[in-house]
Amino acid sequence: MIVLEGVGKTYQTRAGSVAAVGDVSLAIAEGEFVSIVGPSGCGKSTLLNMIAGFLPPSTGRIEVAGQAVVGKVPPHLGYIFQRDTLLPWYKVRRNIALGLRFRGWSEAQTRERVDALLELGHLSGFGDAYPHQLSGGMRRRVALLMSLAVEPRILLLDEPFGALDTHTKTHLHRELMEIWRKLRQTVVMVTHDLDEAITLSDRVVVLSLPPSRVLLDERIDIEHPRDVFTLRESDRFLAHFQRIWSVLGEQFRAGAS
Ligand SMILES: Nc1ncnc2c1ncn2[C@@H]1O[C@H](COP(=O)(O)OP(=O)(O)OP(=O)(O)O)[C@@H](O)[C@H]1O
Ligand SMILES: [Mg+2]
Repeated sequence: MIVLEGVGKTYQTRAGSVAAVGDVSLAIAEGEFVSIVGPSGCGKSTLLNMIAGFLPPSTGRIEVAGQAVVGKVPPHLGYIFQRDTLLPWYKVRRNIALGLRFRGWSEAQTRERVDALLELGHLSGFGDAYPHQLSGGMRRRVALLMSLAVEPRILLLDEPFGALDTHTKTHLHRELMEIWRKLRQTVVMVTHDLDEAITLSDRVVVLSLPPSRVLLDERIDIEHPRDVFTLRESDRFLAHFQRIWSVLGEQFRAGAS
């Protein structure tokens, strides 16, 4: 579904050029859930932006669903940005509906779809609330529903549960897993939380310090459905954690020195 071949990205700035992504090759199958982890600044958001067609790579090529991504957003793509993108002056319901209105859905169709999504996100009572009236976890849930509204076949998630507490996060993990098991989108998630990456993913990809390359591509050998509340205590989880951390921790150490 997603193929990256020798992808690199160097930004040109007034202060000089910044080599963010060095040389990344990856193939992600349809329906696969892949997480990308790596030190801050190694180009994770840059990679998602290139897959989404927002940003051209400097080298290499990217294909989504068999088509080269060149300056256009591939169809059926949902994106959750690293920063919260809810529009504060619109109610929750209107925020979720934004993508649908762009696609020309009628008012009645939109209302029906938004109601179904609110139910899916356990937010049925909050359609008429404004973003500032929600908790941080609820806002991230609305962001997830916004990106699901257009029924994406591909979901790009940039630290979707960033700064949330472990309790809220774990509940959101369970919800995301349920949604993914139902809809089976292809998911690429960037996160700095290795527990989260292992809990949710089929594969965890570790990137190096910039200019980044793939250091490890670990298949998570834990069957579904997974119990997000007990998974972390299992031997298999711990074995994956240790193996990935031995590579990732090394990058953090190198980045700190
Ligand atoms: N528009 C831009 N212009 C110039 N440099 C940029 C731009 N966007 C990102 N960069 C640089 O590219 C590098 C990678 O940035 P990116 O946001 O992709 O990293 P990241 O891995 O997502 O980091 P984090 O984990 O902190 O979110 C950084 O050095 C950043 O300063
Ligand atoms: Mg980022």
